[in-house]
Amino acid sequence: MCGIVGYIGSKEIKNELIEGLRELEYRGYDSAGIAVMQEGNIKAFKAVGKLQNLKEKTKNFKTIGPGVGIGHTRWATHGKPTELNAHPHMGKYSYVVHNGIIENYREIKSELEKDGVQFLSQTDTEVIVHLFEKEAANAKDIKELYDAFKRTIDRLDGAYAVLLITQKAPDTIFFARKGSPMIIGRNPGGEIYFASSDAPLIGKAEEVAYMEDGTVGYATPDTIYSEPKPLAFVPLSGDKLRAQKGGFRFFMEKEIYEQYHVISDTMIGRVLDKDIAFEELSENFLEGISRIKICACGTSYHAALTSSYLFERQAKMPVNVEIASEFRYKDPLLDTDTLFIVISQSGETADTLEALKMAKSAGLKTLAICNVDNSSIVRLADTSILTRAGIEKGVASTKAFATQVMVLWMLSLFFAKRTKAIAPETVEGETSFMHQVPRVLKDALKVHEKCKRLSKRYLHGHGFFFIGRDIFYPLALEGALKLKEISYLHAEGYPAGEMKHGPIALADAELFTVALMPKTILYDKTKSNVEELSARDSTILSISPEMFELADDFILTHPHTHPMLEFFEMMVVEQLLAMEIAIRLGNDVDMPRNLAKSVTVE
Ligand code: G6P
Repeated sequence: MCGIVGYIGSKEIKNELIEGLRELEYRGYDSAGIAVMQEGNIKAFKAVGKLQNLKEKTKNFKTIGPGVGIGHTRWATHGKPTELNAHPHMGKYSYVVHNGIIENYREIKSELEKDGVQFLSQTDTEVIVHLFEKEAANAKDIKELYDAFKRTIDRLDGAYAVLLITQKAPDTIFFARKGSPMIIGRNPGGEIYFASSDAPLIGKAEEVAYMEDGTVGYATPDTIYSEPKPLAFVPLSGDKLRAQKGGFRFFMEKEIYEQYHVISDTMIGRVLDKDIAFEELSENFLEGISRIKICACGTSYHAALTSSYLFERQAKMPVNVEIASEFRYKDPLLDTDTLFIVISQSGETADTLEALKMAKSAGLKTLAICNVDNSSIVRLADTSILTRAGIEKGVASTKAFATQVMVLWMLSLFFAKRTKAIAPETVEGETSFMHQVPRVLKDALKVHEKCKRLSKRYLHGHGFFFIGRDIFYPLALEGALKLKEISYLHAEGYPAGEMKHGPIALADAELFTVALMPKTILYDKTKSNVEELSARDSTILSISPEMFELADDFILTHPHTHPMLEFFEMMVVEQLLAMEIAIRLGNDVDMPRNLAKSVTVE
């Protein structure tokens, strides 16, 4: 997590850094900081909390003329979110920003302490700047400084994207990347940008290079030098619309409202009139595949779990779904007849990335389902299917989830067709349902007012259970996660039929049950489970196309004849409900406490 930026050029440096950090704030907002160097003088500012605090603190600081600067927005890993722990970290004459984790920092720290170095912070990052200054003690020119920087980087174990500036080379930024993302952008005339994702570079840099793992180098207005090979610059299209709230109160709200739109993009060229196609998947690539393993984290894991029902039911292929952080350490048995799929909105989640590396080194064919082109996961996987949700800013994932589920539904149909598990007429029938999804997502928004009104009744109590069966069980998990993430209320997702094996002991009037009761799958069974809870006095909110007489509250959905259409509609209801409850509680829905959008630590 954390976001870093860098700038070399003649524009107002502070503004360039803060504008860049604003685009990265979703990656962490425990603190922010910048360091700006002009003619060998460095000025640094740090502030705890959101970027706005740093902006306030630097409002009277201006740079005129060329210089360099680095900036950071932090999601705390080592050391509390205090000003001392905020980046940039300083040595005697250098400053560093870092995203990632230095695993061997204790060892380096004690070695430096023996040399008399005094540490100001509790972070792992601070060792980098002191180690560099030790290595650079006798360096006299850029070549010797760069060698000192390389020796420093060589000592680091773990994951890092690092930018370092030093008074000994006043127009230079040293950079290194391993495991954490970093992109460099450039313009004619020697203007250079660095950032953790391409979002801050859109509209700023004409060309960008996505650094490979293991890249080390330095940049000045005249040179960009990198090892082991020169950076490959490509044009950056400036026409991607900058994510703006567009009149909505929160990015999350905007993203819920644009789901019907982006899902059409997800389907273009893939859901055809009467057929399904993925140009990303060649017959050659799929040859010999007879089963599937999927790894993901968080919301992406819930999309994966949903698809396990679809793959087995439609494509008759065995599917196994794992949380990436669990998969990595269980000594999994991996067979080369398995297609290994990773799902990730950001494409940077450390555990998912490592799971992908494991599968690759075991010789499995790998597929990434991802929202961010050129992300680490996309670049590592053999092939990838982009979900095309557009930039998702809300930390609580909404449209990314919708598009992941859509891709997985399409993929299960694609495999079903390929293995001839279903007849051509069924393929055609399914695609006609798929074409209805954008309309369903749009119509679902009509319950927004109802969710707003209902939200006031669900602010207290001792917890929520979201329950459902079949694909509505992963959807229940996702509903509970959404609520937890942004309202800070305790919520759990549970299979409806499993409540009687323990959780029902919690039932009383202060326990809120959100019951997903679709008509197309196991309605009567779910109904019995809800009745059991109602009999024990739990307060019931039913989400269903049918009025359920024992419910305390209803959200009526539209009648559909396909479970996936019910799924998508109920997904929107859950998102709106969680958002309205969180807003009523006064929370910052887009930046919930303790969370980050992109989790690049294990
Ligand atoms: C974080 C985010 C979640 C997300 C999860 C996995 O925890 O807050 O919203 O689901 O990471 O992220 P990914 O980018 O791999 O889908």
